[in-house]
Amino acid sequence: MLQKPKGTYDIYGDKAIEVLYLKKLIEALMDKYNASYFETPIFESSELFHRGVGETTDIVSKETYDFKDRGDRNLTLRPEGTAGIVRSFIENKLYADSLPLKAWYFGPMFRYERPQAGRYREFYQFGFEAFGSNDPMMDAEVIGIIVNLFNILGLKGIKVNINTLGDKESRENYRKALLDYFKPYLNDLCEDCKKRYEKNPLRILDCKVDKENEIMKNAPKMVDYLNEESKNHFEKVKEYLDALNIDYTINSNIVRGLDYYTHTVFEVEADIKGFGSQNVLAAGGRYDHLVEFIGGPSVPGVGFALGLERLLLALEKEGIDIKEKEPLDVYIFGASKEEKKYILSLGNTLRMNGFNVEIDYNNKSFKSNFKKADSLLAKYIIIIGEEEVKSKILTVKNNKTKEEYKVKLDNLIEFLDEKLGDDDED
Ligand code: HAM
Repeated sequence: MLQKPKGTYDIYGDKAIEVLYLKKLIEALMDKYNASYFETPIFESSELFHRGVGETTDIVSKETYDFKDRGDRNLTLRPEGTAGIVRSFIENKLYADSLPLKAWYFGPMFRYERPQAGRYREFYQFGFEAFGSNDPMMDAEVIGIIVNLFNILGLKGIKVNINTLGDKESRENYRKALLDYFKPYLNDLCEDCKKRYEKNPLRILDCKVDKENEIMKNAPKMVDYLNEESKNHFEKVKEYLDALNIDYTINSNIVRGLDYYTHTVFEVEADIKGFGSQNVLAAGGRYDHLVEFIGGPSVPGVGFALGLERLLLALEKEGIDIKEKEPLDVYIFGASKEEKKYILSLGNTLRMNGFNVEIDYNNKSFKSNFKKADSLLAKYIIIIGEEEVKSKILTVKNNKTKEEYKVKLDNLIEFLDEKLGDDDED
C-alpha cells in the first residue's frame, strides 16, 4: 500500500475542522489589524533561500528540499514564508505604495528535519510581516498579535521570550567578542559549534548539545555590546510591550536559526507540562536589511510565524476543544427513487439562498436518513414524497422539537429564514 512520505500527515475529519476553525479565526483577527492576505509560490528559485550571506543557518545549510525542474532550473520548496513574501514585496513594487504594509499568510512549509512530536517535514505556518516601519512600536504590535490569538483561544500556558541582536555595528562588535571568548575552548565544543565558530559564532549560543556547558553560561552577553541606538530600540520595545500588558522574559540566548534578524528577536513558547522539546509555538523578529539584501530598496521589516501543529498540540494539552461541528440547516431526503431530481434541485435552490444543506444521494431507508440528519446536527428535515411533489406543500420537521410544519414551496425560503434566524438568537 502506498503511504504518505515520512514527516507528513493528512488533514481530514476532526483535524480538518480544527484547521479550518483556526484559519477563520486568524482571518478575522487579521482583518482587525488591517492586514492583507498573501499567497506566494510553494517553490521558489533556490537562490532566494540559499542567499550565501557568508553566515550559516540550519535551514539554509541542510534542511531544504532542493530540486531541478525539467527546464534545469534550481528550485526549492519553501522552508519558511518570510523570504517569499519579501520577494513578492520587491517584485510587485509594493514598497511604492503607502507603508507600512502588513502582510499575512497561511500555508505549508517544508524542511528536511528529523521528525518527532511537533516537528514535521511538511508543516503549516500562519505568518505576519510588516514592512516599512522601523519604529519599535511595530515590534511590540507584532508580538501582541500572537498573544491576542492565544488569549482569544483561551490558551494560558505561554511564555514570551525576547532578546535583541542590535544593529549591524553592535552585532559585529559582539561577534568579535564571541570569537575571542570561544577561541581557547574550541576543542570543548560540539562539531556543529566548531563550524558555527567559523561562520556564525552567534549560533553557538543556541546550540542544543552544548546548552548546559559552563563555557556557554559564561559567554559574553549581547546587551553589553549594544550601541546607544540599539539599546534605545530595545528599551522602547519593552515599554510598548508594557503598554500592551504583555508579560515577557528577556532571554539573551535567543539568537534564532535564520540569518536575517536585527534588533528584536522573540520566541513564544508553550509553558505546559509534558509538552516536549519542540515547544516554540511562534517566533520571529525584525529584519531591517533583508529587503535590500534580496534586491529591493532599503525597507525595514518585522514579523513572525506560528507553527499550526504545535498550536493544535498546545490546545489539546490544555483541554481546549475547537472541533465543534457547524450544525447543518436542512437535510432533505426522498421517500423513493422517484423524487431524486426534485431533492437535487430543491437542495440546490436552498444552497443558493444561503442555507447549508445535505441531501440523500443513495436512497437510504427512512431510519438511516434520520440517523444521518442527527449525525450532521441538522436543524430541519424535509422529506419529499409523491404527495409533496404534486401539492407543492412540503412537510418541514424541526429536528430538535420534532414539530412538523406544512409549508408552501413558494414560502419555503422565507419560512426557513425566519426559523433559522430565530434559532440563531437562542
Ligand atoms: P522559525 O522559527 O523557523 O521562523 O519557524 C517559526 C515556527 O514554525 C516555529 O516556532 C515552529 O512553531 C514552526 N516550525 C518550524 N519548523 C517546524 C517543523 N519542522 N515542524 C513543525 N513546526 C515547525 C520562521 O520560519 C521565520 N520565517 C519567522 C519570521 C517571520 N521571522 C520574521 N518573520
